[in-house]
Amino acid sequence: PAFAASNDSKSQVANVAHRGASGHAPENTMAAFDKAFKMKADYIEIDVQMTKDGELVVIHDTTVNRTTNGVGNIKDLTLEQVEQLDAGSWFSNTFSGERIPIFEEVIDTYRGKIGILIELKSPELYPGIEEKMAEVLKERKMDRPNNNKIIIQSFNHTSVQASKELLPNIPHGVLAGMSWKDVTDEQLAKFATYADFFNPNLNIVSPELLQRVHTHDMKMYPYTVRIQEQADNLLQLGVDGIITDFPEYVYQHPAK
Ligand code: G3P
Ligand code: CA
Repeated sequence: PAFAASNDSKSQVANVAHRGASGHAPENTMAAFDKAFKMKADYIEIDVQMTKDGELVVIHDTTVNRTTNGVGNIKDLTLEQVEQLDAGSWFSNTFSGERIPIFEEVIDTYRGKIGILIELKSPELYPGIEEKMAEVLKERKMDRPNNNKIIIQSFNHTSVQASKELLPNIPHGVLAGMSWKDVTDEQLAKFATYADFFNPNLNIVSPELLQRVHTHDMKMYPYTVRIQEQADNLLQLGVDGIITDFPEYVYQHPAK
């Protein structure tokens, strides 16, 4: 069959398409987000940064070098310059029309259709990015309670804290790289004062860490699954969500 049978425990896990369905289409492009939507993922994960002229755009690296035909830092390029770049050809010629998306375009295309896990990427390079993002969401009245399909996260925990103050009704998450392997209960308790999610590198996940995160009333969406076995292990542990380049490794909804 084109789709695997449904499975109750799997279907409760949030299936988060990392930079869109980036195993199938160029990361952080509308093609990757469309693919995730068509695959019925629960969320798209997007990386947000700011151009020289203060526009929010969706790209992972702080330069355009790896994923476009241009060169330079996002912070040194204007929106007009960024919009001219080809963000698809590096992945495959069939995606040559893809562009670096504008944050608002992604929000307006997908809100209400699929969840959006927004990462403030390297926010220390972009003073005021939290306020700009809050403005975009507030203009659309997306800052109200129970808007549970929008989550904001960052490796920069000061930025998460600042964003949570601006958008108290929106769930926030702290991203935790390998250096947080030995996170203490005291640190988890502090995160829990402003964060609803503790989202770690999958290599530091253990049953014990998951339990401690839950004890602190946070959820856990580990990143980044790129092989089936990683998804199987995390599903077995009972994580709340999985951030993956391949949504089909987490859960395939039955065909309608
Ligand atoms: O969503 C978490 C994950 O995206 C963090 O790592 O480098 O892919 O942004 P990175
Ligand atoms: Ca990311």
